[in-house]
Formats: sequence, structure tokens, C-alpha cells
Amino acid sequence: MDTVVSGIRSTGNLHLGNYFGAIKNFLKMQKENNCYFFIADYHALTTHPHPDDLHGNIKQVLAEYLACGIDPETATIFIQSDVPEVSELYLLMNMNAYVGELERTASFKEKVRKQPDNINAGLLTYPVLMAADIIIHKANKVPVGKDQEQHLEMARRFARRFNTMYGVDYFPEPDAYNFGKQLVKIPGLDGSGKMGKSEGNGIFLADTPQEIRKKVMRAVTDTGPEKPHQTPSEPVKNLFTLMSVVSEPETVKFFKDKHANCEIRYGDMKKQLAEDIVKFTEPIRERIIEIHSDNKYLAKVAAEGAEKARASASKTIREVRKIIGYRPFA
Ligand code: TYM
Repeated sequence: MDTVVSGIRSTGNLHLGNYFGAIKNFLKMQKENNCYFFIADYHALTTHPHPDDLHGNIKQVLAEYLACGIDPETATIFIQSDVPEVSELYLLMNMNAYVGELERTASFKEKVRKQPDNINAGLLTYPVLMAADIIIHKANKVPVGKDQEQHLEMARRFARRFNTMYGVDYFPEPDAYNFGKQLVKIPGLDGSGKMGKSEGNGIFLADTPQEIRKKVMRAVTDTGPEKPHQTPSEPVKNLFTLMSVVSEPETVKFFKDKHANCEIRYGDMKKQLAEDIVKFTEPIRERIIEIHSDNKYLAKVAAEGAEKARASASKTIREVRKIIGYRPFA
């Protein structure tokens, strides 16, 4: 049995990238493993959300998690800020994380480029908090998408460094995990890059069928293949990637053959893709609406999750404090 931890930032609604990059693997793991799934609402503070938005987003993401099928009876579902032990481990781990390595992190460098007027220390130490989230439950598997690979590598390094520094074999080194072996990157509809919350290129699980159809029909393509068996351009490849996660294999093959024969009509392909996405998201959307309106249920899930997560986290903190040298006068 593995211990599994994964989280999602509460900065907006969940999209297909979150589902196929991380949640799908959670769902397969939750029955047989010791699973912790949480809403990273401390991480969400790096963008300085308004208190009402912070609260609303946490509630929305919790409802969406549950609507996807994460089961609070078998897994521990909790909200990061309900487990203050994680902030203590974050402080302790910060002492062994070096500014140079944090500055070299790809996600930090990207923030420096994109939002030069808000380079706060929380952004710099974001991978340390993420490592604390994982190792506080002594996780060995972390289902994530490709974009989190470097952060996971850092979590492994921080765990290893702690063990070496104190001469213990305490924290396991957590592995980024996908059943298909390769971590996945779900692309956006804008022709390049990954689907993201802040990229404005996402299809959200809570989108209505009309919104989905509109977004997909607007997706970037090209002017069509010029010769048979031409490799698809980046934007078209992206549509095929999306199709490969929501459509039947025969459907994907049908349009790939059409592309290979230069007979493809992107309008038809998009229509099919939109309908297959709607078929996938519609039952989830209906459950989101239902669960979101049930405050009592959400409060119960959060309270029970916090209790279970705190039991595991406080045990680690007690042991870590002892290893570091915080001991009672005996
Ligand atoms: P976040 O909220 O950006 O994304 C949540 C999960 O969704 C995956 N993901 C994707 N996978 C494939 N293709 C995409 N386009 C795509 N977009 C997002 C992410 O890889 C992630 O698995 N730092 C994390 C949250 C976090 C966390 C943790 C995760 C905090 N502490 C501890 C795991 C363990 C983040 O911002 O993910």
C-alpha cells in the first residue's frame, strides 16, 4: 500500500488538464492506498486574492473534487489551511532550501517574467511548501501532470537532504506518478502550451455545453495538410491530444486517417470533439451544482478531512521536532 498525496491550487475552477493530469490517477488510487487529496489554498495566496474570492474558490474546488468522484469515505480530503502543521514543516524545510536553487526553478522564473510587480517570497519558496505538503504525510507517490515534474524533483531533494543532514532514514523520496508511466500535458485550445487556469485557454468541468461548443469551435487550427501523411502542426496535434483523452479510439483513428489523406475538415473534427467533451463533463457538471449547494455536506467533509490529515501531520511534526533537536528537558 502506498501513501499518496496530491493537491490542486484553489485559484479557479478545475479544467480538463487538472482532471486528466492528476484527478484521473487519484480516482484509480484511492481505493487501495492511503490517499490524501487537498486544496492548496495557502499556495493560492501568491496572487493576493480578495477574501471573498479565496473563500468562494475553496468551496468551488472542494465541490468539484467530490463531483469528480473523490470519495471522502475512503480517501482523506482536506483544505491545506485547516492543517497548520504544514506551515511549521514549511518553516523548518525553508532552513535547508537554498535561494539559488529556488531562483532557478522554472515556475519561479516564469512568474518573474509574467508578473514582475509581485515577486513575493511565497513565490520563491512555493516548492518548499509543496514539498512540505507531500512529505508531511510521508508520501511516496504523487499523481501530477508534467508541469509539476520539477517541483516533485525538488521535493525529493529536500526529503533526501533532511535525511542526510540528520543522519536518518525518515522521509521517503516521493515519486511523481501516472499509471501510464509518462506524466501528461493536456494542451489548451489556443494552439500552443498547456491548458491552464490563468492562460485563458481552458475547458472547465463546470462549463455548460454551450460554452464548451463555443470554445472548441474557436480553437486554433491551420489551413490543412498540404500533402498526405504530413505531421500535424502544433495546434492540430493539440486537438488530437484532447480527442485522445475524451473520445473513443475509433473516433481518433477516423480523424487521423482523414488528416493523413488530406480529407480532414477541421469543423467536423471540432464538432465531434466538442460533443465528446460535453458527454464527459456533463454528468460531472450536474454533480458539481448539486454538491455546491449542500453547505452542510461540504462542511462535514472538510471537518472530517482536516481531522484525519492533522492526525497524520502532527505525528510527523512531533517526530521531526525530535530529530532536529527540539526535545523536552528530562
Ligand atoms: P495546479 O493547481 O496548477 O494543478 C493541479 C494538478 O493538475 C495538473 N495539471 C495538468 N496536468 C496536465 N496538463 C495540464 N494542462 C495541467 N494543468 C494542471 C497539475 O500537474 C497538478 O497535478 N503546485 C500545485 C498544487 C500543489 C500540489 C502540492 C500538488 C501544491 N502542493 C503537493 C501535488 C502535491 C499546482 O499548482 O497545481
